[in-house]
Amino acid sequence: MDVSIVGSGYVGTTVAACLADLGHDVVNVDIDESVVAALNAGESPIHEPGLSDLVALYGGDRLRATTDYSAIAGTDLTMLALPTPSEADGSINLSAMAAGARSVGEAIAAKDGYHLVVVKSTVVPGTTEEELVPILEEATDRTEGEDLGVAVNPEFLREGSAVDDFTNPDKIVVGTDGDERALNRLADIYEPIVMEWEVPVVETGRREAEMIKYANNAFLAAKVSLINDIGNVCKEYGVDAYEVAEAIGLDHRIGERFLRSGVGWGGSCFRKDVDAIRAAAREAGYEPTMLDAAVEVNERQPDRLLGLLDDLVDVAGRRVAVLGLAFKPGTDDIRNSRAIPVIEGLRERGAEVVAYDPVAIEEMRERFPDIEYAESGAAALSDTHGAVVVTDWDEFATLDEEFEAMADPVVVDGRRVVEDRGSIVYEGLTW
Ligand code: UDX
Repeated sequence: MDVSIVGSGYVGTTVAACLADLGHDVVNVDIDESVVAALNAGESPIHEPGLSDLVALYGGDRLRATTDYSAIAGTDLTMLALPTPSEADGSINLSAMAAGARSVGEAIAAKDGYHLVVVKSTVVPGTTEEELVPILEEATDRTEGEDLGVAVNPEFLREGSAVDDFTNPDKIVVGTDGDERALNRLADIYEPIVMEWEVPVVETGRREAEMIKYANNAFLAAKVSLINDIGNVCKEYGVDAYEVAEAIGLDHRIGERFLRSGVGWGGSCFRKDVDAIRAAAREAGYEPTMLDAAVEVNERQPDRLLGLLDDLVDVAGRRVAVLGLAFKPGTDDIRNSRAIPVIEGLRERGAEVVAYDPVAIEEMRERFPDIEYAESGAAALSDTHGAVVVTDWDEFATLDEEFEAMADPVVVDGRRVVEDRGSIVYEGLTW
Protein backbone atom coordinates (compact mmCIF):
# COMPACT_ATOMS: atom_id res chain seq x y z
CA MET A 1 0.00 0.00 0.00
CA ASP A 2 1.12 3.60 -0.51
CA VAL A 3 1.14 5.21 2.92
CA SER A 4 1.91 8.78 3.97
CA ILE A 5 2.83 9.64 7.54
CA VAL A 6 2.78 13.21 8.77
CA GLY A 7 5.32 13.83 11.54
CA SER A 8 8.77 12.31 11.95
CA GLY A 9 8.92 12.21 15.72
CA TYR A 10 9.18 9.08 17.81
CA VAL A 11 5.94 7.52 16.64
CA GLY A 12 6.00 8.78 13.03
CA THR A 13 9.54 7.62 12.28
CA THR A 14 9.12 4.23 13.93
CA VAL A 15 5.82 3.54 12.23
CA ALA A 16 7.17 4.71 8.85
CA ALA A 17 10.25 2.46 9.03
CA CYS A 18 8.27 -0.54 10.29
CA LEU A 19 5.58 -0.16 7.60
CA ALA A 20 8.33 0.02 4.96
CA ASP A 21 9.68 -3.21 6.46
CA LEU A 22 6.24 -4.80 6.07
CA GLY A 23 6.46 -4.07 2.36
CA HIS A 24 4.52 -0.81 2.08
CA ASP A 25 5.74 2.26 0.19
CA VAL A 26 5.95 5.03 2.74
CA VAL A 27 6.39 8.77 2.44
CA ASN A 28 7.06 10.74 5.60
CA VAL A 29 6.09 14.42 5.62
CA ASP A 30 7.77 16.76 8.10
CA ILE A 31 8.48 20.48 8.22
CA ASP A 32 12.02 19.91 9.56
CA GLU A 33 14.37 19.82 6.55
CA SER A 34 17.22 18.27 8.50
CA VAL A 35 15.03 15.34 9.56
CA VAL A 36 13.81 14.89 5.97
CA ALA A 37 17.40 14.93 4.65
CA ALA A 38 18.51 12.42 7.30
CA LEU A 39 15.70 9.97 6.46
CA ASN A 40 16.39 10.18 2.73
CA ALA A 41 20.09 9.56 3.42
CA GLY A 42 19.18 6.44 5.42
CA GLU A 43 19.96 7.95 8.82
CA SER A 44 17.56 7.68 11.73
CA PRO A 45 16.83 11.06 13.34
CA ILE A 46 16.19 9.37 16.72
CA HIS A 47 18.13 6.97 18.94
CA GLU A 48 16.11 3.75 19.10
CA PRO A 49 17.26 0.12 18.96
CA GLY A 50 16.69 -1.46 15.53
CA LEU A 51 15.46 1.74 13.92
CA SER A 52 18.79 2.77 12.39
CA ASP A 53 19.01 -0.57 10.56
CA LEU A 54 15.52 -0.19 9.08
CA VAL A 55 16.10 3.43 8.05
CA ALA A 56 19.48 2.49 6.55
CA LEU A 57 17.78 -0.29 4.59
CA TYR A 58 14.76 1.62 3.27
CA GLY A 59 15.62 5.36 3.61
CA GLY A 60 15.50 7.15 0.25
CA ASP A 61 13.88 4.08 -1.29
CA ARG A 62 10.71 2.46 0.11
CA LEU A 63 10.83 5.05 2.89
CA ARG A 64 11.01 8.55 1.48
CA ALA A 65 10.71 11.86 3.28
CA THR A 66 9.62 15.28 2.09
CA THR A 67 8.53 18.68 3.36
CA ASP A 68 5.92 18.83 0.59
CA TYR A 69 2.40 17.81 1.63
CA SER A 70 1.36 17.34 -1.99
CA ALA A 71 3.11 13.92 -1.87
CA ILE A 72 0.05 12.74 0.10
CA ALA A 73 -2.06 12.83 -3.07
CA GLY A 74 -0.14 9.83 -4.39
CA THR A 75 -0.95 7.65 -1.36
CA ASP A 76 -3.94 5.56 -0.22
CA LEU A 77 -3.88 6.48 3.44
CA THR A 78 -2.35 9.17 5.68
CA MET A 79 -1.38 8.72 9.31
CA LEU A 80 -1.24 11.82 11.49
CA ALA A 81 1.61 11.41 13.98
CA LEU A 82 2.00 15.00 15.13
CA PRO A 83 2.69 16.11 18.71
CA THR A 84 -0.11 17.08 21.11
CA PRO A 85 1.88 18.98 23.77
CA SER A 86 0.51 20.20 27.10
CA GLU A 87 -0.82 23.69 27.79
CA ALA A 88 -0.03 25.25 31.18
CA ASP A 89 -3.27 23.78 32.63
CA GLY A 90 -2.43 20.28 31.34
CA SER A 91 -4.92 20.29 28.47
CA ILE A 92 -3.57 19.40 25.02
CA ASN A 93 -2.52 21.93 22.45
CA LEU A 94 -4.08 20.97 19.12
CA SER A 95 -2.45 23.60 16.93
CA ALA A 96 0.00 21.22 15.20
CA MET A 97 -2.78 18.67 14.65
CA ALA A 98 -5.18 21.26 13.26
CA ALA A 99 -2.56 22.73 10.90
CA GLY A 100 -1.51 19.22 9.83
CA ALA A 101 -5.10 18.16 9.16
CA ARG A 102 -5.65 21.26 7.05
CA SER A 103 -2.54 20.63 4.92
CA VAL A 104 -3.45 16.95 4.56
CA GLY A 105 -6.98 17.91 3.50
CA GLU A 106 -5.67 20.34 0.89
CA ALA A 107 -3.42 17.61 -0.55
CA ILE A 108 -6.29 15.09 -0.66
CA ALA A 109 -8.44 17.64 -2.53
CA ALA A 110 -6.10 17.23 -5.51
CA LYS A 111 -6.73 13.47 -5.62
CA ASP A 112 -9.63 11.43 -7.00
CA GLY A 113 -11.16 8.57 -5.06
CA TYR A 114 -11.33 7.48 -1.44
CA HIS A 115 -8.62 8.56 1.02
CA LEU A 116 -8.32 7.46 4.62
CA VAL A 117 -6.87 9.72 7.33
CA VAL A 118 -5.74 7.88 10.46
CA VAL A 119 -5.20 9.73 13.74
CA LYS A 120 -2.21 8.12 15.51
CA SER A 121 -1.51 11.03 17.86
CA THR A 122 -2.95 10.98 21.37
CA VAL A 123 -6.04 13.20 21.48
CA VAL A 124 -8.84 13.51 24.03
CA PRO A 125 -12.20 11.83 23.30
CA GLY A 126 -14.19 13.75 20.74
CA THR A 127 -11.22 15.56 19.16
CA THR A 128 -11.31 13.63 15.90
CA GLU A 129 -15.06 14.02 15.40
CA GLU A 130 -15.41 17.58 16.67
CA GLU A 131 -12.13 19.21 15.60
CA LEU A 132 -10.34 17.20 12.92
CA VAL A 133 -13.20 15.89 10.74
CA PRO A 134 -14.61 19.43 10.16
CA ILE A 135 -11.15 20.72 9.16
CA LEU A 136 -10.65 17.77 6.78
CA GLU A 137 -14.12 18.14 5.29
CA GLU A 138 -13.62 21.83 4.62
CA ALA A 139 -10.10 21.44 3.18
CA THR A 140 -11.00 18.45 0.96
CA ASP A 141 -14.38 19.86 0.00
CA ARG A 142 -15.75 16.36 0.71
CA THR A 143 -18.18 15.06 3.26
CA GLU A 144 -16.99 12.26 5.47
CA GLY A 145 -18.16 8.96 4.00
CA GLU A 146 -17.90 10.31 0.42
CA ASP A 147 -14.35 9.46 -0.58
CA LEU A 148 -13.06 10.61 2.80
CA GLY A 149 -12.63 8.32 5.80
CA VAL A 150 -11.25 9.25 9.22
CA ALA A 151 -10.15 6.61 11.75
CA VAL A 152 -8.40 6.62 15.12
CA ASN A 153 -5.56 4.13 15.62
CA PRO A 154 -3.56 4.96 18.77
CA GLU A 155 0.02 3.80 19.20
CA PHE A 156 1.23 2.09 22.37
CA LEU A 157 4.95 1.68 21.61
CA ARG A 158 7.52 2.35 24.34
CA GLU A 159 10.78 4.18 23.89
CA GLY A 160 13.70 1.80 23.90
CA SER A 161 11.62 -1.03 22.39
CA ALA A 162 9.61 0.93 19.83
CA VAL A 163 10.35 -1.29 16.81
CA ASP A 164 9.55 -4.52 18.67
CA ASP A 165 6.44 -2.98 20.24
CA PHE A 166 5.14 -1.88 16.84
CA THR A 167 5.80 -5.18 15.10
CA ASN A 168 4.58 -7.38 17.95
CA PRO A 169 2.02 -5.34 19.90
CA ASP A 170 -0.36 -6.57 22.63
CA LYS A 171 -3.27 -5.17 20.62
CA ILE A 172 -4.22 -3.01 17.67
CA VAL A 173 -7.02 -0.55 18.35
CA VAL A 174 -9.04 0.71 15.39
CA GLY A 175 -11.70 3.33 15.99
CA THR A 176 -14.09 4.18 13.17
CA ASP A 177 -17.63 5.43 12.62
CA GLY A 178 -18.35 2.02 11.07
CA ASP A 179 -16.78 2.93 7.70
CA GLU A 180 -16.07 -0.46 6.06
CA ARG A 181 -13.47 1.00 3.69
CA ALA A 182 -11.50 2.38 6.63
CA LEU A 183 -11.65 -0.96 8.44
CA ASN A 184 -10.53 -2.84 5.33
CA ARG A 185 -7.65 -0.49 4.61
CA LEU A 186 -6.32 -0.71 8.16
CA ALA A 187 -6.78 -4.49 8.14
CA ASP A 188 -4.62 -4.62 4.98
CA ILE A 189 -1.93 -2.45 6.56
CA TYR A 190 -1.63 -4.56 9.69
CA GLU A 191 -2.33 -7.96 8.17
CA PRO A 192 1.28 -9.29 8.34
CA ILE A 193 1.55 -8.39 12.03
CA VAL A 194 -1.86 -9.74 12.94
CA MET A 195 -1.22 -13.01 11.08
CA GLU A 196 2.27 -13.59 12.43
CA TRP A 197 1.59 -12.84 16.10
CA GLU A 198 -2.15 -13.43 16.33
CA VAL A 199 -2.53 -9.89 17.61
CA PRO A 200 -6.04 -9.04 18.82
CA VAL A 201 -7.62 -6.23 16.82
CA VAL A 202 -10.06 -4.12 18.84
CA GLU A 203 -12.65 -2.56 16.52
CA THR A 204 -14.43 0.22 18.30
CA GLY A 205 -15.73 3.77 18.00
CA ARG A 206 -13.46 6.75 17.50
CA ARG A 207 -14.13 8.31 20.91
CA GLU A 208 -13.49 4.94 22.56
CA ALA A 209 -10.22 4.51 20.64
CA GLU A 210 -9.12 7.97 21.78
CA MET A 211 -10.00 7.15 25.39
CA ILE A 212 -8.32 3.71 25.31
CA LYS A 213 -4.94 5.36 24.81
CA TYR A 214 -5.43 7.66 27.82
CA ALA A 215 -6.83 4.88 29.96
CA ASN A 216 -3.86 2.66 29.06
CA ASN A 217 -1.24 5.23 30.04
CA ALA A 218 -3.18 6.49 33.08
CA PHE A 219 -3.60 2.95 34.36
CA LEU A 220 0.11 2.16 33.98
CA ALA A 221 1.18 5.43 35.62
CA ALA A 222 -1.30 4.86 38.46
CA LYS A 223 -0.10 1.28 38.89
CA VAL A 224 3.45 2.48 39.48
CA SER A 225 2.22 5.24 41.77
CA LEU A 226 0.16 2.74 43.76
CA ILE A 227 3.16 0.46 44.31
CA ASN A 228 5.19 3.57 45.20
CA ASP A 229 2.55 4.60 47.75
CA ILE A 230 2.54 1.09 49.19
CA GLY A 231 6.36 1.09 49.00
CA ASN A 232 6.53 4.28 51.08
CA VAL A 233 4.39 2.61 53.76
CA CYS A 234 6.66 -0.46 53.54
CA LYS A 235 9.72 1.73 54.14
CA GLU A 236 8.17 3.26 57.27
CA TYR A 237 7.57 -0.21 58.67
CA GLY A 238 10.89 -1.80 57.65
CA VAL A 239 9.22 -3.96 54.99
CA ASP A 240 10.84 -4.76 51.62
CA ALA A 241 8.37 -3.53 48.98
CA TYR A 242 9.99 -5.74 46.31
CA GLU A 243 9.18 -8.89 48.27
CA VAL A 244 5.65 -7.61 48.70
CA ALA A 245 5.37 -6.81 44.97
CA GLU A 246 6.65 -10.24 43.98
CA ALA A 247 3.98 -11.92 46.06
CA ILE A 248 1.05 -9.72 45.06
CA GLY A 249 2.12 -9.96 41.41
CA LEU A 250 1.35 -13.68 41.53
CA ASP A 251 -2.31 -12.78 41.80
CA HIS A 252 -3.32 -12.76 38.14
CA ARG A 253 -5.73 -9.94 38.76
CA ILE A 254 -2.77 -7.74 39.75
CA GLY A 255 -0.03 -9.09 37.44
CA GLU A 256 3.70 -8.95 38.01
CA ARG A 257 4.62 -6.17 35.53
CA PHE A 258 4.93 -2.48 36.36
CA LEU A 259 5.39 -3.13 40.07
CA ARG A 260 8.92 -1.75 40.41
CA SER A 261 8.70 0.89 43.11
CA GLY A 262 11.21 3.71 43.45
CA VAL A 263 11.77 7.30 42.41
CA GLY A 264 8.80 7.32 40.04
CA TRP A 265 7.84 7.53 36.39
CA GLY A 266 9.04 9.97 33.75
CA GLY A 267 9.06 10.17 29.97
CA SER A 268 7.19 12.12 27.35
CA CYS A 269 3.85 10.34 27.64
CA PHE A 270 2.74 9.50 31.17
CA ARG A 271 2.65 12.99 32.65
CA LYS A 272 1.36 14.64 29.47
CA ASP A 273 -1.41 12.10 29.01
CA VAL A 274 -2.45 11.90 32.67
CA ASP A 275 -2.55 15.72 32.76
CA ALA A 276 -4.58 15.89 29.56
CA ILE A 277 -7.23 13.45 30.71
CA ARG A 278 -7.40 15.12 34.16
CA ALA A 279 -7.94 18.48 32.44
CA ALA A 280 -10.58 16.95 30.16
CA ALA A 281 -12.32 15.38 33.17
CA ARG A 282 -12.43 18.71 35.02
CA GLU A 283 -13.73 20.48 31.94
CA ALA A 284 -16.59 17.98 31.97
CA GLY A 285 -17.22 18.64 35.68
CA TYR A 286 -15.63 15.45 37.09
CA GLU A 287 -12.84 15.42 39.72
CA PRO A 288 -10.44 12.56 38.81
CA THR A 289 -9.27 11.75 42.35
CA MET A 290 -7.21 8.66 41.56
CA LEU A 291 -5.45 10.29 38.63
CA ASP A 292 -4.63 13.37 40.74
CA ALA A 293 -3.16 11.06 43.39
CA ALA A 294 -1.07 9.21 40.78
CA VAL A 295 0.64 12.50 39.92
CA GLU A 296 0.95 13.60 43.56
CA VAL A 297 2.66 10.37 44.63
CA ASN A 298 4.99 10.60 41.65
CA GLU A 299 5.99 14.15 42.51
CA ARG A 300 6.71 13.09 46.09
CA GLN A 301 9.17 10.28 45.31
CA PRO A 302 12.21 12.47 44.48
CA ASP A 303 11.67 14.38 47.78
CA ARG A 304 11.53 11.11 49.69
CA LEU A 305 14.79 10.03 48.04
CA LEU A 306 16.46 13.28 49.07
CA GLY A 307 14.93 13.06 52.57
CA LEU A 308 16.67 9.69 53.07
CA LEU A 309 19.95 11.26 51.97
CA ASP A 310 19.38 14.22 54.37
CA ASP A 311 19.06 11.74 57.24
CA LEU A 312 22.54 10.36 56.47
CA VAL A 313 24.64 13.31 55.33
CA ASP A 314 24.54 17.11 55.27
CA VAL A 315 25.08 17.72 51.57
CA ALA A 316 25.53 21.53 51.77
CA GLY A 317 28.88 22.43 50.18
CA ARG A 318 29.66 18.77 49.48
CA ARG A 319 30.01 16.80 46.25
CA VAL A 320 27.07 14.47 45.62
CA ALA A 321 26.81 12.06 42.68
CA VAL A 322 23.62 11.59 40.65
CA LEU A 323 23.73 8.26 38.81
CA GLY A 324 21.35 8.17 35.86
CA LEU A 325 19.76 11.06 33.97
CA ALA A 326 17.60 9.36 31.30
CA PHE A 327 13.95 8.81 32.30
CA LYS A 328 14.56 5.07 31.98
CA PRO A 329 17.42 2.85 30.77
CA GLY A 330 17.90 2.29 27.03
CA THR A 331 17.16 5.87 25.98
CA ASP A 332 18.83 9.29 25.99
CA ASP A 333 15.45 10.96 26.59
CA ILE A 334 15.37 13.11 29.74
CA ARG A 335 11.81 14.43 29.36
CA ASN A 336 10.17 14.47 32.80
CA SER A 337 13.09 12.39 34.13
CA ARG A 338 13.08 12.09 37.90
CA ALA A 339 16.72 13.21 37.75
CA ILE A 340 15.50 16.77 37.11
CA PRO A 341 13.73 17.29 40.49
CA VAL A 342 16.53 15.34 42.21
CA ILE A 343 19.21 17.68 40.80
CA GLU A 344 17.07 20.73 41.63
CA GLY A 345 16.60 19.50 45.21
CA LEU A 346 20.32 18.87 45.67
CA ARG A 347 21.16 22.34 44.37
CA GLU A 348 18.60 23.91 46.70
CA ARG A 349 20.45 22.18 49.54
CA GLY A 350 23.72 23.74 48.36
CA ALA A 351 25.27 20.47 47.15
CA GLU A 352 27.86 20.36 44.36
CA VAL A 353 26.23 17.98 41.91
CA VAL A 354 28.29 15.65 39.73
CA ALA A 355 26.10 13.72 37.32
CA TYR A 356 26.64 10.69 35.11
CA ASP A 357 24.60 8.78 32.54
CA PRO A 358 25.87 6.45 29.79
CA VAL A 359 23.95 8.26 27.02
CA ALA A 360 21.94 11.26 28.29
CA ILE A 361 24.61 13.73 29.46
CA GLU A 362 24.38 16.07 26.48
CA GLU A 363 20.59 16.29 26.84
CA MET A 364 20.86 17.11 30.56
CA ARG A 365 23.66 19.61 29.96
CA GLU A 366 21.15 21.75 28.05
CA ARG A 367 18.84 21.69 31.07
CA PHE A 368 21.56 22.15 33.73
CA PRO A 369 24.62 23.68 32.00
CA ASP A 370 26.45 24.54 35.22
CA ILE A 371 26.63 21.26 37.11
CA GLU A 372 29.57 18.90 36.72
CA TYR A 373 29.25 15.88 34.38
CA ALA A 374 31.48 12.84 34.75
CA GLU A 375 32.65 10.43 32.06
CA SER A 376 31.88 7.29 34.02
CA GLY A 377 30.09 6.10 37.12
CA ALA A 378 33.47 5.63 38.78
CA ALA A 379 34.53 9.21 37.97
CA ALA A 380 31.21 10.55 39.27
CA LEU A 381 31.64 8.78 42.60
CA SER A 382 35.23 9.83 43.16
CA ASP A 383 35.61 12.20 46.15
CA THR A 384 31.85 12.43 46.81
CA HIS A 385 30.00 12.45 50.13
CA GLY A 386 26.81 10.84 48.89
CA ALA A 387 25.28 9.26 45.79
CA VAL A 388 21.73 8.78 44.56
CA VAL A 389 20.69 6.23 41.91
CA VAL A 390 17.93 7.63 39.70
CA THR A 391 17.89 5.44 36.55
CA ASP A 392 18.12 1.62 36.56
CA TRP A 393 21.04 1.24 34.15
CA ASP A 394 22.60 -2.22 34.65
CA GLU A 395 26.11 -0.81 34.89
CA PHE A 396 25.33 0.79 38.26
CA ALA A 397 25.05 -2.69 39.75
CA THR A 398 28.77 -3.26 39.24
CA LEU A 399 30.13 -0.20 41.03
CA ASP A 400 30.74 -1.87 44.44
CA GLU A 401 34.42 -0.88 44.73
CA GLU A 402 33.71 2.65 43.55
CA PHE A 403 30.91 3.05 46.13
CA GLU A 404 33.27 1.85 48.85
CA ALA A 405 35.96 4.31 47.73
CA MET A 406 33.70 7.40 48.06
CA ALA A 407 34.76 10.09 50.56
CA ASP A 408 31.59 9.14 52.48
CA PRO A 409 30.20 5.86 51.13
CA VAL A 410 26.53 6.85 51.48
CA VAL A 411 24.21 5.60 48.72
CA VAL A 412 20.47 6.14 48.41
CA ASP A 413 19.08 3.86 45.71
CA GLY A 414 15.93 5.00 43.91
CA ARG A 415 15.74 1.98 41.55
CA ARG A 416 16.96 -1.07 43.47
CA VAL A 417 20.05 -1.57 41.31
CA VAL A 418 22.90 -1.67 43.84
CA GLU A 419 23.60 -5.32 44.66
CA ASP A 420 26.58 -5.33 47.03
CA ARG A 421 25.43 -3.27 50.01
CA GLY A 422 27.53 -4.78 52.81
CA SER A 423 30.35 -2.31 53.22
CA ILE A 424 28.59 1.00 52.45
CA VAL A 425 25.86 3.03 54.12
CA TYR A 426 22.93 2.03 51.93
CA GLU A 427 19.28 3.02 51.90
CA GLY A 428 16.67 1.86 49.41
CA LEU A 429 13.73 4.12 48.70
CA THR A 430 11.02 1.54 49.37
CA TRP A 431 12.94 -1.37 50.91
C1 UDX B 1 4.86 4.65 27.92
C2 UDX B 1 3.86 3.50 27.69
O1 UDX B 1 4.38 2.31 28.31
C3 UDX B 1 3.63 3.29 26.19
O2 UDX B 1 2.64 2.28 26.00
C4 UDX B 1 3.13 4.60 25.57
O3 UDX B 1 2.95 4.45 24.17
C5 UDX B 1 4.14 5.71 25.86
O4 UDX B 1 4.36 5.82 27.28
P1 UDX B 1 7.50 4.96 27.79
O5 UDX B 1 7.25 6.36 28.28
O6 UDX B 1 8.41 4.76 26.65
O7 UDX B 1 6.10 4.25 27.38
O8 UDX B 1 8.10 4.15 29.04
P2 UDX B 1 7.71 2.95 30.02
O9 UDX B 1 8.61 1.82 29.75
O10 UDX B 1 6.27 2.71 30.05
O11 UDX B 1 8.19 3.59 31.43
C6 UDX B 1 7.63 4.82 31.92
C7 UDX B 1 8.25 5.22 33.24
O12 UDX B 1 7.76 4.38 34.30
C8 UDX B 1 9.79 5.12 33.31
O13 UDX B 1 10.28 6.28 33.94
C9 UDX B 1 10.03 3.89 34.15
O14 UDX B 1 11.26 3.98 34.86
C10 UDX B 1 8.84 3.94 35.11
N1 UDX B 1 8.49 2.63 35.69
C11 UDX B 1 8.01 1.65 34.87
C12 UDX B 1 8.62 2.42 37.04
O15 UDX B 1 9.03 3.30 37.81
N2 UDX B 1 8.27 1.19 37.56
C13 UDX B 1 7.80 0.18 36.78
O16 UDX B 1 7.50 -0.89 37.33
C14 UDX B 1 7.67 0.41 35.40
